[in-house]
Amino acid sequence: MPSTRRPYAVSDDALSNLLHEERRFPPPEELAASANVTEETFAEADADREAFWAKQAERISWESKPTQTVDWSNPPFAKWYADGTLNAAYNCLDRHVEAGKGDKVAFHFEGEPGDSRDITYAELTKEVCQAANALTELGVDAGDRVAIYMPMIPEAVVSILACARLGAPHVVVFGGFSADALATRIQDCEVEVVITADGGYRRGSASALKPAVDEALKSCPEVKKVLVVKRTGQETEMVEGRDVWWDDTVAKASTEHTPQAFEAEHPLYVMYTSGSTGKPKGILHTTGGYLVGTSYTHWATFDLKDNDVFWTAADIGWVTGHSYLVYGPLANGTTSVMYEGTPDTPHQGRWWEIVDKYKVSILYAAPTAIRTFMKWGAEIPQKYDLSSLRVLGSVGEPINPEAYVWYRKNIGGDRTPVVDTWWQTETGMHMISPMPGVANGKPGAAMRPIPGVSIDVVNDEGKSVENGHGGYLVIREPWPAMLRTLWGDDQRFIDTYWSRFEGMYFAGDGAKKDEDGDIWLLGRVDDVMNVSGHRMSTTEIESALVSHPRVAEAAVVGATDETTGQAIVAFVILRSGGEVDADKGADIVAELRNHVAKEIGPIAKPRQIMVVEELPKTRSGKIMRRLLRDIAENRELGDVTTLQDSSVMNLIKDNMAGSRED
Ligand code: PRX
Repeated sequence: MPSTRRPYAVSDDALSNLLHEERRFPPPEELAASANVTEETFAEADADREAFWAKQAERISWESKPTQTVDWSNPPFAKWYADGTLNAAYNCLDRHVEAGKGDKVAFHFEGEPGDSRDITYAELTKEVCQAANALTELGVDAGDRVAIYMPMIPEAVVSILACARLGAPHVVVFGGFSADALATRIQDCEVEVVITADGGYRRGSASALKPAVDEALKSCPEVKKVLVVKRTGQETEMVEGRDVWWDDTVAKASTEHTPQAFEAEHPLYVMYTSGSTGKPKGILHTTGGYLVGTSYTHWATFDLKDNDVFWTAADIGWVTGHSYLVYGPLANGTTSVMYEGTPDTPHQGRWWEIVDKYKVSILYAAPTAIRTFMKWGAEIPQKYDLSSLRVLGSVGEPINPEAYVWYRKNIGGDRTPVVDTWWQTETGMHMISPMPGVANGKPGAAMRPIPGVSIDVVNDEGKSVENGHGGYLVIREPWPAMLRTLWGDDQRFIDTYWSRFEGMYFAGDGAKKDEDGDIWLLGRVDDVMNVSGHRMSTTEIESALVSHPRVAEAAVVGATDETTGQAIVAFVILRSGGEVDADKGADIVAELRNHVAKEIGPIAKPRQIMVVEELPKTRSGKIMRRLLRDIAENRELGDVTTLQDSSVMNLIKDNMAGSRED
């Protein structure tokens, strides 16, 4: 059950500052004049939401057209376009080629070392057909799950679409996750085939991936085949009979493949995300509704036009990569940029060089990246021609007004609208965002729901709050790209999202409606942190820490951080006999940080670990995270009267020195 404590990602001061934000950015005239979404669109969707979504289904090519829109007779299990049949890959590829757009570039791929490759829709279609044929050879049938653990290279997109073409749900695992995290996901989803690469380029060097797969598979005997792309050419061990090279299979397969149509509710993919317990949740997305939802929102939110060059600067391992690097843009026949590496390799102007080179017109990025660019300085982007940009997007966490205004001014030349898109792995598609042709943009506000989406902010009792008040963000009506369940766990699906408020989807976020009814996101209200736009569960990291033989107990909190939004701060009690003297303290801290990286992945490494002798607990034994957060953020301590032993806090504070490791 989610706790009812107040959202903590934004302090009271920040909150009132936010709401006193007076700056407004109306849409550029030209954009407004030809905008995809207008006030009439909202009126149309409000008048008949179902008819609105029935109309959007026409964006997609169906083998057999749906006659139903939504079936909500058995909530919370929705069916969308249930009697329609389609093939997702056909919608992303073949139909554009058939329409004469085969020579249009689907991806400008930019490798970190500077290699680049333009891939047209015709070429991508052929490669996906080859991969689909090769996967069939490897024994993949409709319904089988395939894990994809890859760097940001075109073969990752090809693999995803080949799975979709075969009706084999893909389970993409972020390449930065550890072997253990990969194994857990493979086991939970009963995967039998894994697609990976020898490695990828990051921060200027080749970083191996395949060894993590080998390590993971020691505990996954069900995996029969591993398909390996050669990206870096580094020495790679291949297991006889299990591992095959992409070049020896996919590259040699036939470029012809007839896509089969699947029911709209056929599973498309599972994507794992952190919840408020230790075990990641397998979010299940299905085919028809997801494709309609992502293609519509990609077109609406970014005011997409045929000649746009679109760049989602997110990894394919996250939902943003799925919805707005693969499915939305490809369903819309868009030209996209795909970049393999980090923003400062080989120099801090790399992104702007790419925007300049490909004349990117829409850029979609995370606030943490924007804040990093702010730190590096406006003179870096100024060296490049960014005049092609016309819409800027933000995703993953609340964007603070300073970052919003900096982004608009220094990247968008003070002319581009900034669309702050609120959504989740679970929602599959944008749910709240300014529409660039109509919104009077407010820095820091996600504004109002997408046409056809029904959002509210409610109080503890589930009653809608008045304008000017805050509460919990909920979704009142089903939407096409919504998750259908958690893989293999319907009950957890109901408990997690549908039990807090009767008949409503609870998103786990706090939000506020301002005087105009526009929505401001305030961060998570559960034990989920948002670090650089990545979702992390406090419990998951606590479990990782406690799995270290020297740790007796651990408490993890998310502390406000200037660059990453929140940062992971851990408090640990060592097992008896494990006390550390001051100079050894650093060793154990380093060891524990590496241990977490090994268990989950480097992105989960705590910024700070404090070795303490006690943790503050309530009389009923619950750890008081609020107090720990106060310490982690160096605030004055909050109320300690419910503490079992208030001297604990002084003890903890005394132990703080020297615990940080940057
Ligand atoms: O807390 C919200 C935050 O990210 C969470 C969803 O995380 P994830 O499923 O990993 O998806 C990230 C990419 C969609 C949400 O519950 N979040 C996402 N976008 C925003 C946001 N918070 C505020 N403003 C946003 N635009």
